[in-house]
Amino acid sequence: MKISPSILSANFSNLADDVKRVSIAGADYIHCDIMDGHFVPNMTMGPMIIESVKKSTDVPLDIHFMVENIPFFIDMYKHLKPEFISFHIEEEKHINRVIQKIRNENIRPSVVLNPATPVCLLEYIVADVDMVLLMSVNPGFGGQKFIPSVLDKVKELRNLAEKKNPNLLIEIDGGVNDKNAPLLKKAGADILVAGSFIFKHKDYKEAIKALRCE
Ligand code: DX5
Ligand code: ZN
Repeated sequence: MKISPSILSANFSNLADDVKRVSIAGADYIHCDIMDGHFVPNMTMGPMIIESVKKSTDVPLDIHFMVENIPFFIDMYKHLKPEFISFHIEEEKHINRVIQKIRNENIRPSVVLNPATPVCLLEYIVADVDMVLLMSVNPGFGGQKFIPSVLDKVKELRNLAEKKNPNLLIEIDGGVNDKNAPLLKKAGADILVAGSFIFKHKDYKEAIKALRCE
C-alpha cells in the first residue's frame, strides 16, 4: 500500500518543515489539494506555494484539483511536473480531451469521483487513465468522517478495472485512518491519502506505517 500524505492538514506557517518531515517518514507521494472557492467552498494553495513544496522534497507530487475550469488550472500547475493530476468528472464535459491534455505533459492522468457519483460513469474512461481517485468524504475540508459506502465502490471499480485496465491504480481520499485502512486494502485500494491522521500523529513514521497495513 502506498501512502500520499495530504498537506492540507500540515502546519502552513512552517510548511517546508512538515513536507521534509513527512518525506523522511516514508511518504510515497505528497498530496496537494488545490481548491478554487467555486467547485468547493474553500481555497488553498496557488502554484507559487506548490513550487516551494517541491523545493522541500524529492517525493513526487500528487495534485488533486477541486476546481472549475480544469484546463486553465492544468496550464497553471503543469510546469511542476507532478506524478499525477486528478480532476473531478462532475466538473468536466470533455473528459477524454482533458485526460489527453494531461498526458501530453507526461503527467499521469487520474479522474476523481465524489462519494455520490457512481462507478458506472467510468465504463468508457477507465482504460484511458492511470488512476481513479475515489472520495470518501465530500471534498473541501480535511478532518471529516469516512463514508463507509466507498468500500463497495472500491470493489466495484476493481472488478471494472480487471476487465478494462488491469494496471489501474485506485486511490482513496478522506477520513482515512488506521481502522479503515485494512478494509480499504482488502477491497482493492492501492494508494491512501491521509491528512489529519498523519499530521495530528506525534510520529509521522508510525502513522504511515500503520496505514500501510503490513
Ligand atoms: C478533502 C481533501 C483531502 C483531505 C483529506 O477535500 O481532498 O485530501 O485533505 O484529509 P483527511 O485525511 O483529514 O480527511
Ligand atoms: Zn485530496
